[in-house]
Amino acid sequence: LRVAVVYGGRSGEHEVSIRSAQAIMAALNTENYEVIPYLIGKDGKWDPKPILPEPGANEGIDVVFPVLHGTFGEDGTIQGLFEMADLAYVGPGVFGSAASMDKEHFKRLSVERGLPVVEYAIVHTGNPHKAVDWDTTLTQIVERFGLPVFVKPCNLGSSVGVAKAHTVEELQAAILDAGRYDLKVLVERAIVGQEVECAVLGNYRPQASTPCEILPSKEFYDYDDKYLLDQAKTVIPPNLSEEKIEEVQRLAIECFQAMDCSGMARVDFLIEKATGNIYINEINTIPGFTSISMYPKMWEHAGCPFEMLVGMLISLALE
Ligand code: DAL
Ligand code: MG
Repeated sequence: LRVAVVYGGRSGEHEVSIRSAQAIMAALNTENYEVIPYLIGKDGKWDPKPILPEPGANEGIDVVFPVLHGTFGEDGTIQGLFEMADLAYVGPGVFGSAASMDKEHFKRLSVERGLPVVEYAIVHTGNPHKAVDWDTTLTQIVERFGLPVFVKPCNLGSSVGVAKAHTVEELQAAILDAGRYDLKVLVERAIVGQEVECAVLGNYRPQASTPCEILPSKEFYDYDDKYLLDQAKTVIPPNLSEEKIEEVQRLAIECFQAMDCSGMARVDFLIEKATGNIYINEINTIPGFTSISMYPKMWEHAGCPFEMLVGMLISLALE
């Protein structure tokens, strides 16, 4: 099979994508596959050449493995290109990708399905016709959620642009900073407790892995902790009761289906210490595949090593 691996990309997660793609291409280095790499630069230029939108115009490709995180990769945009070109590809389609990437609409769809998500507010920093009324916005947020709160760009991953704000000054600075990455900024109540992740694999009958728990080395699991420091610890299975683990797995599958996902996704949870409540934090439709990434590690724990997982994802794309 000729597998086009598309990686790099224009998002703030360009470097992470390169690391994920290197691991996937190494796993595809067997007689069953021929890898055709397509590196997209930060400027959006394709190397060696772009995939074309016309059906039949990309004859050397049997299936595409998009290993792109964040904007223009995980958000439905490039999936639209593959649909137009009639190419099979790994991971969720246009709608599932877009619904999962946009943290506001992800929450709306989750609420509509009765799935537990953390209370949030949206600040539109990028509206050229309406400046943010800072006094009202900051006061309302603090009255509603107290401090600290988490501030995130609505459409990005790997905690790029994410901050925990402890004061009103930090809150405004964090919203402005997140606004550099997206026109919409999400602010949510800070949950004190455990960070748990669960991998989902499949199309019509998705399976959930044993979840894992992240023990960040910093105040929260931020970009540095994820990719640079190598000090965060991960535990499989998480330190939770059998019932809670089953609940996490059930919610992971429900969330995957609620967002119309297929192929793969990693669903991230927060378990509140004071109440024991389980909240879905977010869903990642092209989760990290770096050497330290949890999606492949959770499947490995479940008895599906990296090479087998990559093969299964390609089979699911062709189903
Ligand atoms: N967004 C990163 C790659 C992840 O979720 O693993
Ligand atoms: Mg994410």
